[in-house]
Amino acid sequence: MNQNNNNNNNNTKTKTKTKTAAGGGGAGDKKRAPGGRAEDEDKNTAAAAAALELEREEKRKKMQPPKKRLYRTRAHSNPLNDQSFKVPRHPSEVNWAEHFPAVAKNPEAKLEVENVDVGCGFGGYLLKLGEVYPDQLSLGLELRDKVTEYVADRITALRAEEGGEGGEGKEGCTYENVAVLRANAQKDLPHYFRKGQLRRMFFLFPDPHFKASNHRRRIISEQLLDEYAHFIRSGGRLYTITDVEELGAWMKSHLDAHPLFERVGDEELDGGGDEAAKFLPSASEEAQKVKRNEGKTYRSVYRRR
Ligand SMILES: C[S@@+](CC[C@H](N)C(=O)[O-])C[C@H]1O[C@@H](n2cnc3c(N)ncnc32)[C@H](O)[C@@H]1O
Repeated sequence: MNQNNNNNNNNTKTKTKTKTAAGGGGAGDKKRAPGGRAEDEDKNTAAAAAALELEREEKRKKMQPPKKRLYRTRAHSNPLNDQSFKVPRHPSEVNWAEHFPAVAKNPEAKLEVENVDVGCGFGGYLLKLGEVYPDQLSLGLELRDKVTEYVADRITALRAEEGGEGGEGKEGCTYENVAVLRANAQKDLPHYFRKGQLRRMFFLFPDPHFKASNHRRRIISEQLLDEYAHFIRSGGRLYTITDVEELGAWMKSHLDAHPLFERVGDEELDGGGDEAAKFLPSASEEAQKVKRNEGKTYRSVYRRR
């Protein structure tokens, strides 16, 4: 899509240049060279107009939010399977400008991810992070390739809306501060982040892996919490929410037992002091599904000591 756009841009530029170099295509020229240069100029003008229209059409298409049904995928991926996608060897090798191009162009902005939505699914909560924290970069990590592609296209469409006019975005939000990566959060975090880099990590409605034999696949475990504690800075926060009571208890007990995390009380969370906590039960696609079904949710938020 981008490549086509670039080609169209180039075509438009080339044709416009030709027209200018030929002297603007005035009526006098046409009389002097009937069927010759003037005809060529007419053709060039028509071609430039067609290229411009094509470019506009591409832009209109890009502005449409992607349709979920075109990104069919399996309901689950096994996070313990070896995946074949490429990961950088070290965080310094990640080209963040590719993911946040507008931010990279601003010399005053910090090109460093601070919020991570682990298993972001279809991206509803990630987009909310972009709205709530306009000056911070938020990244979604997603294991399933089609779902990652959907979120990436959703972000591209929102960015093309230029401020959310008439689309699904919030007015005034450019979504230049959100991006998504295909990654296995159980394995790949050290390839993307440095120690103490993150303000917030989110684990929203994670896959429950009900069977006891599959509990080792769960995204919250003693070892994984050690890793998350490494990447979250002191004073940063880790957020969990689920509609599965047993999983809620599992996440809470693991976090309570971890020496580097302390529980944030409900008074603080419900008192409105934490913007991110407000949207836990409503912004993601799973949250919306649970809400529609009037399901109960279990929330646990912890501060990194
Ligand atoms: C039940 S969905 C919840 C999605 C989203 N958080 C929401 O609330 O709508 C869990 C998501 O986590 C993803 N996931 C599971 N394990 C993962 C891992 N190790 N790394 C990244 N994503 C993972 C799944 O592919 C799935 O999209």
